[in-house]
Amino acid sequence: VSALPEGYSMRPLQRNDFDTGFLDVLRVLTQVGDVTQQEFEQRFDQMKAGAGGYHVLVIMNGEGKIVGTGALIVERKFIHHLGLVGHIEDIAVAKDQQGKKLGLRIIQALDYVAEKVGCYKTILDCSEANEGFYVKCGFKRAGLEMAHYY
Ligand code: ACO
Repeated sequence: VSALPEGYSMRPLQRNDFDTGFLDVLRVLTQVGDVTQQEFEQRFDQMKAGAGGYHVLVIMNGEGKIVGTGALIVERKFIHHLGLVGHIEDIAVAKDQQGKKLGLRIIQALDYVAEKVGCYKTILDCSEANEGFYVKCGFKRAGLEMAHYY
């Protein structure tokens, strides 16, 4: 995995990240709502409890503020001889930090984790507007997303 800009670092999301800008970065992606610290910690604990399935990475700037994030969810299957499939979700880079290859570094890191834990492929859904970004990250168009909202 190549270098981040000077002063930036990447690490897994931590239980004490409620106040470090994580949820604000996700607001670049979509609506998040008013999540309390207790709710954040509860969801963090649920993710941790799930048999190595969740890998949430964050990028911090030099001042300890989270400016980017992305998640890999490892799905365990019966097919493909108990195969594992990686799902990349919730990639977001703070507006004023876009274009510095932070998104690319997040995808590269998640891809590395997916391969390392034994996924035979990693898939994701994105808008047409983001297709070019994922192509630059080495992904190619495959299939069609269907959704049923409740
Ligand atoms: N279309 C085409 N190319 C793009 C796009 C785009 N929308 N965005 C970035 N690129 C290119 C860059 O120009 C760069 O190319 P280069 O290597 O030739 O210079 C390359 O992709 C890497 O770009 P980064 O600088 O790493 O991109 P950035 O850090 O800005 O992150 C991201 C991209 C995550 C899409 C960011 O713009 C963002 O947070 N957008 C809002 C939230 C969002 O849409 N997230 C993705 C949702 S899909 C999902 O989560 C599975």
